[in-house]
Amino acid sequence: MYDMKVGIYGGTFDPIHFGHIEIAKAVKAELGLDSVLFVVAADPPHKDITGRTSALLRLEMTERALKNEDGLFASDMEIARGGVSYTVETLSELKRARPQDELFFIMGADMLASFSTWYRPEGILECAKLAAVQRSGQAEDLKAIADAIMRDFGGTVIVTNVCGRELSSTEVRQSVYDAVPIDDRVPYEAELFIYRNMLYMPEELLLIKDRLAERLDEARLEHSLLTVREAVRLAYKHGLDTKKARLCALVHDCAKLRGAALESYMKLLGFVPTAEERKYPFTIHARLGALAAKKEFGITDREILSAIRRHTLGSGDMTPFDEVIFLADKLEPTREYRKIAALRELAYTDQDAAVAAVIRNNIAYNKSRKMPIHPSTYETLEAIERRGGAGQEQ
Ligand SMILES: [Fe+2]
Ligand SMILES: [Fe+2]
Repeated sequence: MYDMKVGIYGGTFDPIHFGHIEIAKAVKAELGLDSVLFVVAADPPHKDITGRTSALLRLEMTERALKNEDGLFASDMEIARGGVSYTVETLSELKRARPQDELFFIMGADMLASFSTWYRPEGILECAKLAAVQRSGQAEDLKAIADAIMRDFGGTVIVTNVCGRELSSTEVRQSVYDAVPIDDRVPYEAELFIYRNMLYMPEELLLIKDRLAERLDEARLEHSLLTVREAVRLAYKHGLDTKKARLCALVHDCAKLRGAALESYMKLLGFVPTAEERKYPFTIHARLGALAAKKEFGITDREILSAIRRHTLGSGDMTPFDEVIFLADKLEPTREYRKIAALRELAYTDQDAAVAAVIRNNIAYNKSRKMPIHPSTYETLEAIERRGGAGQEQ
């Protein structure tokens, strides 16, 4: 008798998505497995990974995505071994390490179809049973393939009742590139990992990020990258230009500097702060940021420059695009304060009401800490109230 039943699920996981997790869970349930190992490929023989995400990033992303999944784990064994990895080597190594366990190698229908061309198929079948996942309407074909494999190479091939969902990593990467939200296809932790590391993004945005990294501290840079995530989702939800929102969110805090660095940056750009900006120094980076976006990053789009200018205090005549950036900045995933969950929800249903609620919240917070409140804060709030969009007190 075996001690444990272990599923082995190999892949590049670039990125891991709900399709992978659903398959692993369903096979685990159907075959009564104790656990499933997601073996993250170092350099798989069947796929070209040139220009793709590094193995260590894919491993970390997979680990994060599976953190709260019962019995699903990421494995670095192929990465630790390095170089080109063949399934037979991975399974032999596992078999040696856990001789008491029964191994099930989970594979898709198309992989099963090409199985006889793999390196040492009989060796694979000596170490593990194959557990094939169906594609809709192919059960009979798969059973015939399974029979042929068992006849030619021995071992056991199980055609499970699990049917994989039509979802691909390629499609997810393309969505990120095109500034389309991916939260419906990728686990939250993996999604944040993708934005934090700017995976799958256009080259010109990576160059901007590198320049931001030279001047912003780590927390501010992370905030900017996750503001991108929130801005893309908000703009998408409200039918606005998501690529523009992404660029704007990325650079919105490009002038968020302090002390001597701020002074010399203002001098460099020929920026003269108003008396009011001097009185509330945290507001300087909004107007300065719009100037920097133009001069340093060559951004001339008026909507983007306006949203950067208005992201800190808002304004009486904010456009829906201004509001997306304002809200994304205040509600991105690293922000934590009382009521934020309700505010996030509101931002996706009623932007005006969400802006008003965020401002009321800030006013209450500043009052409770006896901190000064910028007069423009009230002006923004009153303007929204006048046009009847301020909603209920949150
Ligand atoms: Fe800011
Ligand atoms: Fe910000």
